[in-house]
Amino acid sequence: MAALTAQGVTLDVDASRLKKAVKVSPTMYGIFFEDINFGADGGLYAEKIKNRSFEFPQAFMGWDTYGNVALREDGPFERNPHYVRLSPSGHAHKRTGLQNEGFFGVSWHAGEQLRFSVWARGKGGRIDVQLVNPAASGETQVMASQTLDITSDNWERYTLTLTPEEGLSKGMLRINLRGDRSVDLEHISLFPADTWKGREGGMRKDLAAKLDSLNPGVFRFPGGCIVEGTDLATRYQWKNTVGPVENRPLNENRWHYTFPHRLYPDYYQTGGLGFFEYFQLSEDFGAEPLPVLSVGLACQYQNSDPEAHVALDDLQPYIDDAVDLVEFALGDSTTTWGRVRAQMGHPEPFTLNYIAIGNEQWDSLYTQRLALFIDRMRKECPDIKIIGSSGPDSEGAKYDYLWPEMRRLGVDLVDEHFYRPAEWFINGATRYDKFPRKGPKVFAGEYACHLKGHKQNHFKASLLEAAFMTGLERNADVVTMATYAPLFAHVDGWQWRPDLIWFDNLNSVASASYYVQQIYGTNPGTHVLPATTNGEPLTGQDGLYASAVYDQPTGEYIVKVVNINDEPRPFAINLKGAKPESLTTITLSSTDLMADNTLESPRAVVPVTENMPLADSYTIPANSFVTFKMK
Ligand code: AHR
Repeated sequence: MAALTAQGVTLDVDASRLKKAVKVSPTMYGIFFEDINFGADGGLYAEKIKNRSFEFPQAFMGWDTYGNVALREDGPFERNPHYVRLSPSGHAHKRTGLQNEGFFGVSWHAGEQLRFSVWARGKGGRIDVQLVNPAASGETQVMASQTLDITSDNWERYTLTLTPEEGLSKGMLRINLRGDRSVDLEHISLFPADTWKGREGGMRKDLAAKLDSLNPGVFRFPGGCIVEGTDLATRYQWKNTVGPVENRPLNENRWHYTFPHRLYPDYYQTGGLGFFEYFQLSEDFGAEPLPVLSVGLACQYQNSDPEAHVALDDLQPYIDDAVDLVEFALGDSTTTWGRVRAQMGHPEPFTLNYIAIGNEQWDSLYTQRLALFIDRMRKECPDIKIIGSSGPDSEGAKYDYLWPEMRRLGVDLVDEHFYRPAEWFINGATRYDKFPRKGPKVFAGEYACHLKGHKQNHFKASLLEAAFMTGLERNADVVTMATYAPLFAHVDGWQWRPDLIWFDNLNSVASASYYVQQIYGTNPGTHVLPATTNGEPLTGQDGLYASAVYDQPTGEYIVKVVNINDEPRPFAINLKGAKPESLTTITLSSTDLMADNTLESPRAVVPVTENMPLADSYTIPANSFVTFKMK
């Protein structure tokens, strides 16, 4: 950034009428989480063992067994009844055991402590627990090993710590039976000791920290399409995701087969990252939790037969789930669901102000069911704000039908989704300028710029998202929440792109879109300031976009400017009603529009922060997103 003397566009920012200014909702910029692209199991949820309870339909998926191994199904956890019995092979030189391949490998850093745990029985039994390098070229495959003695004939939980000296990204966990006694093993688990907030069985620290750094105001979970399920049986049921992890039943993950060209037959949901953990993370991040629940419709894309959905007369348990969720989050420990929360270690209530009913639903199948939810929720939990949906499209027949219906039903917010091409984002900064000011607010619940023929993450898409977001900010009286989607993607196991954060088993990288979200999320302001050029908002004239806010706690005037031209533009800010004394700028730009950050090159497109003298005019570099912070 450099100060210029010649003046191009001047942005008039009016800071003189703060008392009348529109307030920016604290929920304005947030995160949307779904277990897609191995975002939860194999991602944020730090468990390294795949199919730890042998509950996958193919009970040994993820495992190799050798010697005398039998699958049994009368285990100690009623909703996950399978376990394995390891028995001696019958010959001194033959071995019995099993090994797990993890999620695209079991991985560890050099010197990292890994917590192994297992439920076991078989007094006198003994196993070796090993971290193994299957591709070892040296003398031994074994990179860490501990022996575990089983001391009871009753089921008990055993733990040990493995600390391999060398790191490995594609290793495996091996369990060898020793001696002449059989042992039974269930819920075989391996976590890094160093998780987010040091919680045992918790979240991957690097990934959770990246979410925290976005300073999210709202945290939407658990999806997305997985809320609906491919059929009702596989919808997300929050009650199955609370209580001891050992007894949370497995669910299918529709992303294992949604795209036949990206098939992941070993993709299931353990629920290890469940509703308690989602609320806890929301609390960690200081974000409003925003759970999304099934409205009783299986994915409408995949089910045109009305019989696939729950009948109106049978909707009661679904509505119970919504009302009971309020009790889980807010009820005291004398209530049924409040007690479950308290027993999980959170006797104090969580925060809960919003519940979304239905994900991408449409037509009267949706509105009839939603009406029944609203009816009961307004009576039994009147303080909860209800979020409805405008369907999967940003405009068109479904959208046009649903918005009036959402007004008629009196929802508080409407969840809009737009995965749209470049032109849509270029023209999108005015989308909400003429939106009705009365009625439900907008939750831009899923969006991302998808360049035709180039769905990879890249800087140009991020730049257009930044341009579009000036329109969200300017219309903060209508749009009160916005969450980019999807959030996470494993480089070895993605189904959908672009995504905000990419990772492998050991490392992660923030995309350019992430930095756009971060700049908005950490500079949301508290009041919208009128910002105009020749009396009009700057919404793409000469390839420039702008919005302005005031931040009451810091006393900063924040102006966000996007230049989508291939040349720089002179730019002046005429701030009326305030005399700032200092200026900091944050600039995100790249000379390569197709560039983005990768695990190999994580700093290809990163924001640059500079302190600058205040000047009459500045240069907005070609293809850049510049945030001016004036104090
Ligand atoms: O974000 C990926 C998917 O896009 C979500 O699951 C769904 O809501 C939308 O279609």
